[in-house]
Amino acid sequence: MKLYSVKVFVLSALVILPLNVTAEIAIPEQALHEARSLVKTFGSHLKASLKPAIQSGGPVNAINVCNLQAEKIAEAVSVKSNWQVGRTSLKARNANNTPDVWELKNLLKFEQRKAAGEDVSTIEYSELVAQDGQSVYRYMKAIPTAGLCLKCHGSQLDNDVSAKLKELYPYDQAVNFKEGDIRGAFSLYKVL
Ligand code: HEC
Repeated sequence: MKLYSVKVFVLSALVILPLNVTAEIAIPEQALHEARSLVKTFGSHLKASLKPAIQSGGPVNAINVCNLQAEKIAEAVSVKSNWQVGRTSLKARNANNTPDVWELKNLLKFEQRKAAGEDVSTIEYSELVAQDGQSVYRYMKAIPTAGLCLKCHGSQLDNDVSAKLKELYPYDQAVNFKEGDIRGAFSLYKVL
């Protein structure tokens, strides 16, 4: 996950950290609530830009929308909320979405939970971690692969889609998914 606005991040850490020391136990529940609601906002903004783009110009046109919009939407949601919001995957298309160690560990656990029969649409995990002397609250939620996603993440892509993806993402790994697979995860964090 890309670290947006590092300056704001450091500054808010300095300001917020001392204030929160006494309320440490109450924070994670509030943070979990915020994280869930942000994922809803981010997810619905993404879908809202994807669907009409596919309908009006086909998947090739929608690639441009995803390509240009996904990070912008993530950034807008992050700036508004004080959280850093992004997406990650074991098989990333955009190299900026390559998981860090914590995300990798949890993506692998999500696969195990799915294999054990858990419903992908409710798989989530959150943890308070110590990072560079700060308390950081991290949250991840699995993203299921739907039928719609297969046009660009499945195993039988149209030739023009395939060509456009190769052009934009020469190291694309995000293909050959099946409906119901875990496509990746939303990944959020906030300095408490
Ligand atoms: C029109 C093509 C298209 C469709 C349809 C599509 N995606 Fe993507 N997807 C992309 C592109 C392009 C990227 C890379 C975006 C970027 O550069 O940030 C991407 C990236 C992602 C990522 C971020 C991780 C990574 O691989 O970089 C996730 C998660 C994801 N898509 C999930 C989905 C899901 C779930 C659906 C169905 C609801 C879906 N996508 C439908 C084109 C598509």
